[in-house]
Amino acid sequence: AFAQRVFSGMQPTGNLHLGNYLGALVNWVKMQDTHDCVYCVVDMHAITMWQDPAALKSAIREVTAAYLAAGLDPKKSIVFNQSKVAEHAELAWVFNCVARLGWLNRMTQFKEKAGKDRENASVGLYAYPCLMAADILLYRATHVPVGEDQKQHLELTRDVAQKFNNDFRPQIEAAGFADGFFPMTEPVIQGPATRVMSLRDGSKKMSKSDASDYARINLTDDADAIAQKVRKAKTDPEPLPSEPKGLEGRSEAENLVGIYAALSERSVEAVLAEFGGGQFSTFKNALADLAVAKLAPLNADMRRLLADPGFVDGVLKDGAERARVIAAETMNHVKDIVGL
Ligand code: ADP
Ligand code: NA
Repeated sequence: AFAQRVFSGMQPTGNLHLGNYLGALVNWVKMQDTHDCVYCVVDMHAITMWQDPAALKSAIREVTAAYLAAGLDPKKSIVFNQSKVAEHAELAWVFNCVARLGWLNRMTQFKEKAGKDRENASVGLYAYPCLMAADILLYRATHVPVGEDQKQHLELTRDVAQKFNNDFRPQIEAAGFADGFFPMTEPVIQGPATRVMSLRDGSKKMSKSDASDYARINLTDDADAIAQKVRKAKTDPEPLPSEPKGLEGRSEAENLVGIYAALSERSVEAVLAEFGGGQFSTFKNALADLAVAKLAPLNADMRRLLADPGFVDGVLKDGAERARVIAAETMNHVKDIVGL
């Protein structure tokens, strides 16, 4: 059996938003009390698309500050950035040789991110899921808290682990690993906001890459911006229903109720029992107040942390040292198993 370990990461490509926070970060914070956790700023993933180098450097600090402000505790968890632990790239290469072209061809995120000009997408963007599998399996992580959009990548991670375990079964057994070398990692997709939608279009997920700033609430937004975005959020003309089934086919309303439930740590049923039948404007005012109350302290902590870059850099440096110990041990076994 594998010891339970959590791994997850986010890309330093601009602002983190409410989707990143509710879909992933709140679960990361909770899991620190029950699991051995490794949390990464995945800067090597960021460069699969062009990044301005100076902006990338500051985004690495900003995302780290957001992690800490949201409640990641570097005394409990390992917090670091990917590029400082070279084994991520090393294991990714081995996995490039394990994964099949057909597997990568099925990845929907590549199709979305590459767009129409696929011939001109980077090879890194295409191979991204193998690097992600390496990030997770380098720590032989059993659980990965993520948003719903990452489900397919986690399936690929399990496919890679399974093929590696099969392809090298005799060597793995000889090395003393009776249950295979890599675990079958499970995604942890939980809470009422596993897929937060755009505030301007209920059919699109909230994303860093959305051109409209009104489509998302950034973790760096101040109270006025948060309240304004909630009040301007797209809705339909009907009042709120009293039960969840009344939200079917009403993606914008469903999204806002889910956000309220997640931020207040209540069920969708409980939220509708309170606001159902009432006007949308009343609910939006309550949601704006709640979002400000929850996010403003986080925002203030982030600013305080960013005023002390030496502290943030120190957290990353210490985290990388601790990550490297686990990573080096895994890579030593992998090389021995593969015959390198
Ligand atoms: P983005 O998709 O905004 O570029 P990342 O790919 O770095 O962000 O994802 C970081 C984490 O945030 C992942 O666990 C992802 O599933 C989660 N996430 C991103 N967008 C959303 C969303 N709209 N709703 C819920 N979770 C999300
Ligand atoms: Na994503």
